[in-house]
Amino acid sequence: MSDLFEPTKAGDIALANRIAMAPLTRNRSPGEAPNDLNVTYYQQRATAGLIITEGTPITHQGQGYAHVPGLYKPEALEGWKKVTDAVHKAGGKIVTQIWHVGRVSHTSLQPGEGKPVAPSAITAKSKTYIINPDGSGAFADTSEPRALSLEEIPGILEDYRVAARAAVDAGFDGVEIHAANGYLLDQFLRSGSNQRTDAYGGSIENRTRLTLEVAAVVAKEIGGGRTGIRISPVTPANDVFDPEPQPLFNHLVSKLAGLDLAFIHVIEGATGGPRDFKQGDKPFDWDELRKTYRDAGGKGAWMVNNGYDKASATEAVASGRADIVTFGKLFIANPDLVRRFKEDAPLNEPNKATFYGGGAEGYTDYPFLP
Ligand SMILES: Cc1cc2nc3c(=O)[nH]c(=O)nc-3n(C[C@H](O)[C@H](O)[C@H](O)COP(=O)(O)O)c2cc1C
Repeated sequence: MSDLFEPTKAGDIALANRIAMAPLTRNRSPGEAPNDLNVTYYQQRATAGLIITEGTPITHQGQGYAHVPGLYKPEALEGWKKVTDAVHKAGGKIVTQIWHVGRVSHTSLQPGEGKPVAPSAITAKSKTYIINPDGSGAFADTSEPRALSLEEIPGILEDYRVAARAAVDAGFDGVEIHAANGYLLDQFLRSGSNQRTDAYGGSIENRTRLTLEVAAVVAKEIGGGRTGIRISPVTPANDVFDPEPQPLFNHLVSKLAGLDLAFIHVIEGATGGPRDFKQGDKPFDWDELRKTYRDAGGKGAWMVNNGYDKASATEAVASGRADIVTFGKLFIANPDLVRRFKEDAPLNEPNKATFYGGGAEGYTDYPFLP
């Protein structure tokens, strides 16, 4: 029986404990490059067994929100080098979440103010965050996308490969491929957003093709043992829908099993919402998903997320249902979450008003235990 404080491994990455920080977009990097405040924020949280950074766009086309640090500018990679150095000096491990938002973007955030790209030209009923010409920030409806042509897909794979290499060169211990929450890869997975009639749409084999190709390209470039992936089989985030998530995601994980990945990171339920959220008529069977992966020979860590607290995370790890649990909002408010769990100390409350954008307030000023 394992407990949360026991060391473990995620592929090639050795972790001091099983309490990981979930990816959290904070919109505090004007110029799309990490700055000193971002360095402080991550360094403060280095006692997590593993930090997964906020989503980091692989290209300008992959950007969907203002002030999000990417991986495609030299100054961003210099900024990330400072982050990874600070976390490593503090004894932590850190991977970056490589991200292409697909249709969840706005023309003002795209190269040449072009249309965002998607599997199909279907607009997401969703909001993004932009900067007005006068410098003020505002929520805006996502723009109408255009469908990626078949000829453009190899370029997308190349963008993932280049970004993964850049991330490792900037000192990250690995990457997490963002295939969750209604962004580009998830848009290809779900039938509601993917109405293609070529090799990337239609059957489950076809809809999972892009995600599997991205995972294979990244694993080949930096090693499977440094590559993880995040999925959210039933989330409705960013207007994605599929009536039959179980066979879709069972197929996906059974094919991922061959890549010897570091971890599979599963958001159970609606992201940040009900854990028993359903798409289609049947409740999703999380045990079946994990068993499908293991039966197909999948190794690495099984990582779970969504609404966990110390008690439920302890149960998940003790029962063998999970190897690692990730915490989002609790890590926003508690830089020393691992110590607080260990000592059963009271937790700081996260302040929603300062989640996205702003400066040090609600970012680096949450108190540590004395
Ligand atoms: C402020 C904020 C930003 C988030 N940004 C991301 C992100 O960049 N990538 C991602 O996959 N999930 C993101 N999420 C979802 C979290 O990783 C996590 O799945 C969610 O908060 C549920 O976990 P929790 O109950 O432990 O907070 C974000 C959530 C919040 C609250």
